[in-house]
Amino acid sequence: MSKAWEIIKAHERYRRTTLNLIPSENILSQRVLRALSTDLAGRYALRPEYYGGTRYIHKLWSYAEDVTRKLFKVEYVLLEPLSGHVAAILVSHTFSKNGKLASLPSEYGGYPGYDKNKIPDLIGAEVVQLPTSKEYFTPLVEEGLRVIEEEKPNLVILGGSMILFPHPVKEFSELVHGYGGVLAYDASHVLGLIAGGVFQDPIREGADIVYASTHKTFPGPQGAIILTNDPKIYQKLSENVFHKVVDNIHLNRVAAYTVAAEEMLKHGPRYAKKVVENSKHLASSLDSLGISIMAKDRGYTESHQIIVEIPDEEARVKIRDRLEECGIVADAGVRFGTNEVTRRGMGRREMEKIANLIYRAIEGEDPRKIKREVRELVKRFHLVKFC
Ligand SMILES: Cc1ncc(COP(=O)(O)O)c(C=O)c1O
Repeated sequence: MSKAWEIIKAHERYRRTTLNLIPSENILSQRVLRALSTDLAGRYALRPEYYGGTRYIHKLWSYAEDVTRKLFKVEYVLLEPLSGHVAAILVSHTFSKNGKLASLPSEYGGYPGYDKNKIPDLIGAEVVQLPTSKEYFTPLVEEGLRVIEEEKPNLVILGGSMILFPHPVKEFSELVHGYGGVLAYDASHVLGLIAGGVFQDPIREGADIVYASTHKTFPGPQGAIILTNDPKIYQKLSENVFHKVVDNIHLNRVAAYTVAAEEMLKHGPRYAKKVVENSKHLASSLDSLGISIMAKDRGYTESHQIIVEIPDEEARVKIRDRLEECGIVADAGVRFGTNEVTRRGMGRREMEKIANLIYRAIEGEDPRKIKREVRELVKRFHLVKFC
């Protein structure tokens, strides 16, 4: 075996024996994985076409757009962005270049890409911070309306990286539209929940654009999509795609995304409902063991995420490392996501078991003992469901 394959196989063996609670990740079905390693992985296509040999590629691309329109009930879709971050650059550049961009502060759940030294720096935009609740990581409505009224940002971005509850799309959209601004919703984390009809429906609530990664709660390959019902917005975004933020759109990704979108058309509602049920139950199980979870007074969460209350950053990193010693993979948030464990078919009983394992890991029990129990658990749930 080549050295590269040795490392790839070692990674696969390692992750097969661990329990993944990272909310930004998911497991792919065999069919989605298979689509990633087809001939499409080495091909090019453009619109209008420059390359030959693309008759089936264009059929697939159009079909992918049809499935997406159907799944999200929208008129216009862009499948070109290679990732959520690239979609964020495209939207921010198109609607707030050298202007004002409003978003949530990253210390209260906003995506760090909208911090003033990141995407705004790239496009010369001034950042307007939306006042945000420290208890729930949601934008504050009254204060937000006041700031938007005063600053009139060209682009207001809702959605976030640490997202427990719906954001006030309905509440902000009238004001933003009133002065000619654009309201976008970064659904990178919650796209799978939106596709399944839970959490919130930003387009129907007044968002002009929804853009998102396709690999967090949405169980597709790493990539992104953009959705809108507005032909002018679609036109403006389309003009900024090719040779500005992408050239090759990675057609194997488009193929794999399409297979995942078909799976979500069929199984999305059941999957999304179960993800939210599981996160609520994981949160209450941890809470009953004495682990403090954010937003208890609002039922902890309405999404795939729950956030453990640990104010000290160093302590959060230690917990992440401690959990990994015990076979539980998390981030330094410390936020847990139930998307992957739900895809594996886990339910209430397993959420209680996971809470117990996390509690014992944090309490300092022998990691070898916990790891053995984690292995037993993941062995029983090795198949991918909802596909
Ligand atoms: C809210 C949000 N937007 C955008 C991104 C970037 O997405 P990607 O990793 O697909 O580039 C992330 C990444 O975690 C995110 O949380």
